[in-house]
Amino acid sequence: MAHINQVDPFDFVIFGATGDLTMRKLLPAFLRRFHAKEFADEARIICIARSAHSEDDYRQQVSKTLREFAPETAKSTATLNRFLKLVQYIPLDATKANSDWSSLEKALADPTRIRVFYLATSPALYSPLCAALSKHDLITDKARLVLEKPIGVDFTTATEINDGVGKFFHESAIYRIDHYLGKEGVQNLLALRFGNPVLEKLWSSDAISHVQITAAETVGVGTRGAYYDESGALRDMMQNHLLQVLCMLAMDAPASLSADDLRNEKLKVLNALRPMTSEMVRQNVIRGQYTAGLCGQENVCSYQDDLGKDRTSNTETYVAIRTKIRTSRWGNTPFYLRTGKRMAAKTTEIVLQFRPQIWSIFSNTPSPGRLVIRIAPEEGLSLVLASKDPGAGGFRVRNADLQMLYNDQFNITYRDSYERLLLDAVRGNPALFIRRDEVEASWRWVEPILATWREDLSPLEPYPAGSWGPASARILLARDGALWHEDMQT
Ligand code: BG6
Repeated sequence: MAHINQVDPFDFVIFGATGDLTMRKLLPAFLRRFHAKEFADEARIICIARSAHSEDDYRQQVSKTLREFAPETAKSTATLNRFLKLVQYIPLDATKANSDWSSLEKALADPTRIRVFYLATSPALYSPLCAALSKHDLITDKARLVLEKPIGVDFTTATEINDGVGKFFHESAIYRIDHYLGKEGVQNLLALRFGNPVLEKLWSSDAISHVQITAAETVGVGTRGAYYDESGALRDMMQNHLLQVLCMLAMDAPASLSADDLRNEKLKVLNALRPMTSEMVRQNVIRGQYTAGLCGQENVCSYQDDLGKDRTSNTETYVAIRTKIRTSRWGNTPFYLRTGKRMAAKTTEIVLQFRPQIWSIFSNTPSPGRLVIRIAPEEGLSLVLASKDPGAGGFRVRNADLQMLYNDQFNITYRDSYERLLLDAVRGNPALFIRRDEVEASWRWVEPILATWREDLSPLEPYPAGSWGPASARILLARDGALWHEDMQT
């Protein structure tokens, strides 16, 4: 049974309330936590957008969305109706100087309640929105600000945003969300590593020859082409989600699970990543773009056709990076990180490849074992170890796979990482949110890659939709005598 700590009554204000994120993720996550009794009927979710909907119209739209995106919870009409009563809608163009803020001011009349402002808007609006909140005197001692990624498009813009919002909110009240940190499988890295001394003993270059972190998706860019074409896989996934997973995997033990102890250790990993020159980018970074292909059972079109534009796009939908962490723990272990759209499978996983034996007494030696940590779609572990091939006569050894699925063990599924993170923001626990220096350190490391690509110094390679990415991604590992997980034999 999951342990539920109910939070105090709160006012949760969402700017960008008609957008995809609010409808598909935030409101369904709130409904599920409401159903689990993590908050009570005194909470208010105040939804703000420019459109002139009436509150009834908006609630109807939310009700429809919840039936689609949280059907298992929304089917309880009583719960759904109680939840809808917590949802208010206020039409407001918060960027215009002459907009009428009185409805929001009235809704937030009680300064003693916890108040969270969630900006599900374009990052360009983060600073102006904070200035407007301040002008209308809405930032109380109990106010928190949640910012969606991407924080900027490079180091300079990230710094500008951080400076801009920092004029109105103290850093301790700013919650930069990275939904990968809300995933149980990512948090479980802490339990796995620091709760199992036996594993922690293996956690270094002494035992691990290389590490792979993969976040592969089968979806294309869908309706997000306008955003994605400006962003690309490096900014959309690598700079944030994959680097955060890398930090959780590679960091040293924090002194405690407090936000600052955790974030200090993650920051050390980011600062220890080997900085890249243009030449190193050319050698160690692969960028690709999907062409038409067969994805599962479906024939899908190319990225260019998905965009539906006449111009040719140079945006990457796939990126793979080989890097090293300059510490005594990891200095001798390459880390390969990759992410892409329209790949062969939807999977987020980490592979720790063990080193081979120095000397084997067996005539046939299977490939060295590995630990695979699955984060999605199903959370679990798989430990591949050498084992005797059963049978009389001779003595052969082959690999066997020890599997553990979290769902089988704990019989509980958190459907979405936002469930955890939204309520953590209400509680005032920033441990699973990104601190300013982490964001800036990530951008600093990514900058040379962006610069090299801007000058077009490394090629954009096509890969067919439904494949594992461009051919040269294989060569990236082959140079170290390694294989991507899908190419390994058991
Ligand atoms: C988002 C990206 O942050 O993460 C999307 O903007 C991507 O492009 C999504 O599809 C992937 O999240 P998940 O949880 O499905 O791996």
